Amino acid sequence: MVKLVIVNRAGDANEVEADEGMSLMEVIRDNGFDELLALCGGCCSCATCHVYVDPAFAGTLPPRSEDEEDLLDSSDHKTENSRLSCQVPVTPDIEGLRVTIAPED
Ligand code: FES
Repeated sequence: MVKLVIVNRAGDANEVEADEGMSLMEVIRDNGFDELLALCGGCCSCATCHVYVDPAFAGTLPPRSEDEEDLLDSSDHKTENSRLSCQVPVTPDIEGLRVTIAPED
């Protein structure tokens, strides 16, 4: 299990445990954060799973794909720490990662 910290839009931080191989989006949804809509179910086509990741982990995450980049460009809330959570796999390398759910577009 990999420990992660999820921060909701109200700013409340919650520590959760995730199985390797899941996506961050699945972990967030499975832990009851309904504000992350994830409308396309993880197909990288909706951008409603937008999160901000801890910059300290930037080097350990897989780079954004072209599709992910294009979708994030459509958000008014894109920052350099933006990711689509369905595109980020849970691995032991992200133990302790803090993920903040981005504002709704
Ligand atoms: S769930 Fe739709 S892009 Fe991530």
